[in-house]
Amino acid sequence: QAHISYQDNTMHVEKVSVAAMAKDIPTPFYCYSYTAIKENYLAYQQAFAEQDTLICYAVKANSNQAILSLLASLGAGADVVSEGEIRRALQAGVPANKIVFSGVAKTRKEIAYALSHNIFQFNVESEPELQLISELASAQNLTACISIRVNPNVCANTHAKITTGKSENKFGIPITKARSVYHFAASLPGIKVQGVDVHIGSQLTDLAPFEQAFNKVAEFVDTLEEDGHDISIIDIGGGLGIDYAEDDTPPNKDAYAKLAKKCLGHLNCKIVVEPGRSIVGNTGILVSSVVYVKKGEERQFLIIDAGMNDLIRPSMYDAYHQITPVIRNTNETALYDVVGPVCETGDTFSKNRELPVLQSDDLVAILSCGAYGSVMSSTYNTRLFAPEIMVKDEQYSVIRSRQSYQDVIEQDVIPPWW
Ligand code: LLP
Repeated sequence: QAHISYQDNTMHVEKVSVAAMAKDIPTPFYCYSYTAIKENYLAYQQAFAEQDTLICYAVKANSNQAILSLLASLGAGADVVSEGEIRRALQAGVPANKIVFSGVAKTRKEIAYALSHNIFQFNVESEPELQLISELASAQNLTACISIRVNPNVCANTHAKITTGKSENKFGIPITKARSVYHFAASLPGIKVQGVDVHIGSQLTDLAPFEQAFNKVAEFVDTLEEDGHDISIIDIGGGLGIDYAEDDTPPNKDAYAKLAKKCLGHLNCKIVVEPGRSIVGNTGILVSSVVYVKKGEERQFLIIDAGMNDLIRPSMYDAYHQITPVIRNTNETALYDVVGPVCETGDTFSKNRELPVLQSDDLVAILSCGAYGSVMSSTYNTRLFAPEIMVKDEQYSVIRSRQSYQDVIEQDVIPPWW
């Protein structure tokens, strides 16, 4: 992870010692590098510099206001999937004309909210949604700019739970059926057909599925043009993978941009790209403390104070995350099952992992937690949301404060008729 390194055997995020931070902020907490986020965004900008491109950061990956406002200041747009995310993006300074709205279940209220802000584009995922957008837009004499999300039936070679471009997935309209839906869209009041959208999955570690999808889209755009539609936008979605393990080598942003140019460049459309993980994934860690080391009959458990409620990826997708001591003070290693405090066997970060020998109160960092980490957390077991910290050079700030138990408990209401 860039900007996360060991200095004097102690992990640093930029110039700040994680051990020093942990004296100030009780674990568990998320910690991000400002510079790494900025560099990842600029690498996208650089990679797509030769193409007319709008980079719409996928807010779902990490929606903290500080991160959104940093990206907005660099010129990023936003890919959002709910009214809440539109509100977050606008509040952080993303202009409405750089917001694309994706998702299969946009409600009447959410569509009305997006229309009232005149967002750049709706990525429409079904015919009933199209009709509802038309109804709401025309009732207010507004025009909704739309792309239809086509489902190209391409295998993304990623985890089944994050594959979205196969015909059995709920997303998009089958590319084989989409031509007639475009025809229908063009006939509807309040709708301006401007583009085609595709997103085939997340954590793709090879470009071949993208190539298949982009080629299918290119062919489809030709058909639409022949049908008389004026297609000026191609939204290629997100999905570029990152390295989680030390020997992972996902394709870089330049190769991805080159591929987009090769497959789609001749169509002279503006490219919208919706990266999430590849902007924030490798910029953040989850810092946790060892509570106990417990020797079981068959296994040795490293019980830490972060749980599946803080980081659900290992439990949910069997995702691999590197785990490493914050202070390196021994070469002696042992095999551990690294587990959290939650009362479920699935609350396991890794099994039989070889780590330097650790003891109670030692700090560990779980790496590559910037994307789909804190945003997927919950208060299960009435554990509080972990705070988030942003580091830039030698400064750091809390960008999401720790809740109090009162904050959580107070939300429950005992009925007055009890
Ligand atoms: N655009 C759309 C329409 C999406 O559905 C997604 C992610 C993205 C863009 C951003 O994809 P990215 O560049 O981040 O791969 N929670 C899962 C990942 C779910 C991704 C959902 N959609 C995980 O932790 O692996």
